[in-house]
Amino acid sequence: MLGDLADRFGTPLYVMDIATIRHKLSEWSSALGEAGRVFYAGKAFLCRAMVELVHQCGMGLDVVSGGELYTALLAGMPAANIIFHGNVKTESELRLALDNGVGQIVVDSLDELSRLQRLAMQLAKPARVFLRLTPGIEAHTHEFIRTGHFDTKFGFPWLDGVAHAAVDRALTLSGLHLVGFHAHIGSQILDSAPFLANAEALMKFSREQYARHGFWPEELDLGGGLGVTYEPEEEALRPADVVRAVKMAVATLTPNGLPIPRLSWEPGRSIVADAGVTLYRVSAKKKIPGGRTYVAVDGGMGDNIRPALYQARYRAAVVGSPRATREVVTLAGRYCESGDILVHDAEMPVLETGDLVTVLTTGAYNFSMASTYNRVPRPAVVAVENGAATVWVEAETWADLSARDRPLADRAPIPQAGF
Ligand code: LLP
Repeated sequence: MLGDLADRFGTPLYVMDIATIRHKLSEWSSALGEAGRVFYAGKAFLCRAMVELVHQCGMGLDVVSGGELYTALLAGMPAANIIFHGNVKTESELRLALDNGVGQIVVDSLDELSRLQRLAMQLAKPARVFLRLTPGIEAHTHEFIRTGHFDTKFGFPWLDGVAHAAVDRALTLSGLHLVGFHAHIGSQILDSAPFLANAEALMKFSREQYARHGFWPEELDLGGGLGVTYEPEEEALRPADVVRAVKMAVATLTPNGLPIPRLSWEPGRSIVADAGVTLYRVSAKKKIPGGRTYVAVDGGMGDNIRPALYQARYRAAVVGSPRATREVVTLAGRYCESGDILVHDAEMPVLETGDLVTVLTTGAYNFSMASTYNRVPRPAVVAVENGAATVWVEAETWADLSARDRPLADRAPIPQAGF
């Protein structure tokens, strides 16, 4: 099947398995049941078809930009099922959200709170808001994808009354309806303790607000972060186990007589990572005397920046007939950077030029973080189900890469100052 796809659509190629995505979505929704909602985090992998699939499976969407929101609306996701995140939301992005009635907006700063309130009043569109808190939880994951500790650009730190002041403001501003609190502690987490600590911290904070204002959240949003297995020694958490522990803690910590807050989650990676592989064609092989054997493929850091950015490790396999001999190779990309290595020192079947190689578990944060570095077009995304393949995203072309360029002489008039 993979060989046929490479012949039909070319390489590099992102391949997504629809059944796996459906299965992961349903694992999450059955774990939560009536207790909460799932907003798939589009930043992990987003295109129109993915939005449609998420909607079909009865789930909402977490977006972090006007672009993601636009795609969501274009693909028919009901605005009520969208949650809008991000530490910077521009005025036009907030307008797009309010105009379309986005169901929940997660406010990240006091500046944003004021901006949102002004726009909500101007447009006469009330906003349902969450406040993003940073509860001071250290999750054991890469520094770049950790977000719940105090000294971070995200959210209101729960220090020196900063988060309390945000609640005070939110409760007094007209045009805003405070729904509850949000905290996302990081990504690729393989241990359930930080999720539980996050839920307990949100409950403690909620109880404080109840004591201070009589305000009790309708909903708590625990973010995403569940890790997946990139390497054989890693073990992924099951959504059902984490959700069960969190539900119990939240129920226990809800004061008598108050409703248990609804629990929402925003899984991204755990929905799509395992569903994706990337196909590459081997283009060259070099044995460095006294050094490594490099197998260079026709993609790399443009379609998968994660090894270079986070020292992420991937497994690779050869597509096709089994080979008797194996050797240790380094799978190198085609981009003009020494750091463009997809897999370091992996024992693989002996590879030859023209072989097809697949890198596994690339469904999350590969396509969505792809670039056109070196003016290499981004690959197509093809989705497979029941033996049939459909194109979800067309491959970019050389012409696409130049389509927005203008020649040197094509000068736009310089706008005149308006005074
Ligand atoms: N909710 C919020 C507010 C988030 O910031 C994120 C991820 C998620 C949900 C989804 O988290 P997930 O379930 O996918 O772990 N580019 C990095 C990951 C950055 C994650 C950023 N926020 C990577 O490739 O590992």
